[in-house]
Amino acid sequence: MSESLYGGAQHRRITIRDLASAKTRNEKWPMLTSYEEMTASIFDEAGIPVLLVGDSAGNNFLGEENTIPVTVDQLIPLARAVVRGSTRAMVVADMPFGSYEASPDQALATAVRFFKEAGVHAVKLEGAHYEQVRTLVASGIPVMGHLGLTPQSLHQLGGYRVQGREDGPAILESALAMQEAGAFAIVLELVPAELAAQISQALTIPTIGIGAGNGCDGQVMVWTDLMGLTKKPPKLAKAYRNIRKEMLDATAEWARDVASGAFPGPDQTFH
Ligand code: KIV
Repeated sequence: MSESLYGGAQHRRITIRDLASAKTRNEKWPMLTSYEEMTASIFDEAGIPVLLVGDSAGNNFLGEENTIPVTVDQLIPLARAVVRGSTRAMVVADMPFGSYEASPDQALATAVRFFKEAGVHAVKLEGAHYEQVRTLVASGIPVMGHLGLTPQSLHQLGGYRVQGREDGPAILESALAMQEAGAFAIVLELVPAELAAQISQALTIPTIGIGAGNGCDGQVMVWTDLMGLTKKPPKLAKAYRNIRKEMLDATAEWARDVASGAFPGPDQTFH
């Protein structure tokens, strides 16, 4: 839990300035994905400072095989629900595949939609799109970068593979260039822990790791992995509960009670 991060922000939302000053204190913090109002309100109440409306909604909410098919029109209502469900967390929306790569103007148009229609506080984009970052930041839109394994480039990368084993210096260079372009934080996904720690030390902005060791400034997890809902969680995740089993058991119990006539009972019956 990020107590001192929250010390300065008890009654307002976390801002990029809070995250910057957490880095100067060496304070580590968690980020979780959320795709709707209910989990957003739980994670917000638990003190998670940053909620990511990730395009991982594709394979964790929308039933897709991966993040590639996710559209802006699909993510906007989810992002709006997460903003509504939270009062203290900063809400970051992922810019879906195909919604920002073509040009800085395309990126700006997409980010403006997320700001106006969903009310998010920042956007995230994958890869080395420095001009897009510059344009968004110049327009007042905070941008989170995402380097290492970038799942929207799954087919170009040849699968979900650790990045940076051979080209570590290139990822470090990209991270420095993202910082120079104005990004306020960078997700490092599936890179060797030593490389992620080196990048985290080289940058003045926070890094947020996922499968990148514990040398990053923050850590992000997909919430369904954290709670044990995902059928086949990736190796980089750790399930802290088995909510899938809890839900299966509760569902079977209720169905049995319906069949036996035990539900509804006197407490759920009106006269
Ligand atoms: O979409 C997502 O959930 C993400 C995180 C894995 C960083 O991009």
